[in-house]
Amino acid sequence: MFGFNYYTPTKVVFGKNTESQVADLIKEFGGTKVLIHYGGGSVVRSGLLSRVTDSLDAAGIPYVTLGGAVPNPHLGLVYEGIELCKKEGVDFLLGVGGGSAIDSAKAIGYGVANEGDVWDFYDYKRKATGCLPLGVILTIAATGSEMSDSSVITKEEGLVKRGYSSDYSRPRFAIMNPELTMTLPDYQTACGCTDIMMHTMERYFTQGGNMEITDALAEGLLRTVKKNAVILRDDPKNYDARAEVMWAGSLAHNGLTGCGNDGGDWMTHKLEHELGGLYDVAHGAGLAAVWGSWARYVYKDCLPRFKKFAINVMDVADEGTDEEIALRGIEAMEDFYRSINMPTNLRELGVNATEEDLVEMARKCAIGVGGEKGSAKVLDEAAMLAIYRASM
Ligand code: NZQ
Ligand code: ZN
Repeated sequence: MFGFNYYTPTKVVFGKNTESQVADLIKEFGGTKVLIHYGGGSVVRSGLLSRVTDSLDAAGIPYVTLGGAVPNPHLGLVYEGIELCKKEGVDFLLGVGGGSAIDSAKAIGYGVANEGDVWDFYDYKRKATGCLPLGVILTIAATGSEMSDSSVITKEEGLVKRGYSSDYSRPRFAIMNPELTMTLPDYQTACGCTDIMMHTMERYFTQGGNMEITDALAEGLLRTVKKNAVILRDDPKNYDARAEVMWAGSLAHNGLTGCGNDGGDWMTHKLEHELGGLYDVAHGAGLAAVWGSWARYVYKDCLPRFKKFAINVMDVADEGTDEEIALRGIEAMEDFYRSINMPTNLRELGVNATEEDLVEMARKCAIGVGGEKGSAKVLDEAAMLAIYRASM
């Protein structure tokens, strides 16, 4: 077991109608002029945005709005947001939407609080020394950005998708009303469940010392999301299932399931980020499409964890060799993905990549991780290419 820092400063306000508390929360955290940042319009159509602006109007809190954060959010809009905040004297950011709107807001926050080009942080050239304070109203359970230190931005030029993490960007508050997720398309609900499980699995399949308590939390979280994803497939308006998944999404990526281990593997995410950058696929679906190939490539090097996962999460019988049990666990996970209409390879994802595309993605992925990365098994560029090829 390794030592760890566990830092979760976000005040979570969870339950029905909690968005009505937004003005009080902004005041509590010192906001006097707000940028409300959102995505492509779902929050306009659902009426959430006008409820939020009505609340701020009633509380006398001035604000400006900026919509248009796309899935795999773009750097161009981040620059626009930074200029707007500087011009308007904004001192608090409110991200309303999913991971894309929240991540875009975090990047705007870095850009306002630091001199120079904000992309430098995502390009690993230097580190941020601050971020504008941020609150969020979450509309999709998926990335965990509502409590995480991460944000992921795509630079349009060269389609480079990169993440940057620092505690400065952890939201001050997160409003989570599971009812707000009921307008999601089924595909996005399933993508979200996949991402939540993946954030836990990235931290589970490691070589680093593990804690029994962390494993129990991780396995319980995985079983809960697996069960409730199927409930939501059949009954999308089920409040309790929405709530289970929403809270799981935050716990999966606020560091809880990483306590005591070596920080995680993260190669499935890195492989997906190239797909998201190049083909603009939904993040969760991209993860499902490469996970099986990744798992088959690495499982022999991390056999005890894959065996434990098969038995404790996927309900595989403890019969046969360790390798057989591990492989049955991987197959069961892929069956689960299929059961919620997630892809298990690139073709099912709708990506018809050429060999040249695969080589290019492996090249960019290797650059993005500084040469090699992984914990279950350390992967270099050749290994990344082999996994992309196997996922075709
Ligand atoms: O843009 P709008 O119109 O709001 O529509 C969105 C978008 O089309 C829609 N949506 C969201 N809530 C809705 C809704 N539609 C109807 N009703 C609602 N209640 O769903 C679509 C997806 O939204 P998006 O914000 O892109 O999804 P997600 O939360 O999955 O975010 C994905 C992005 O986050 C990054 C991903 O790489 C990707 O760029 N990640 C961020 C992380 C972090 N910050 O910690 C970690 C993750 O691993 C991930 O990499
Ligand atoms: Zn993710």
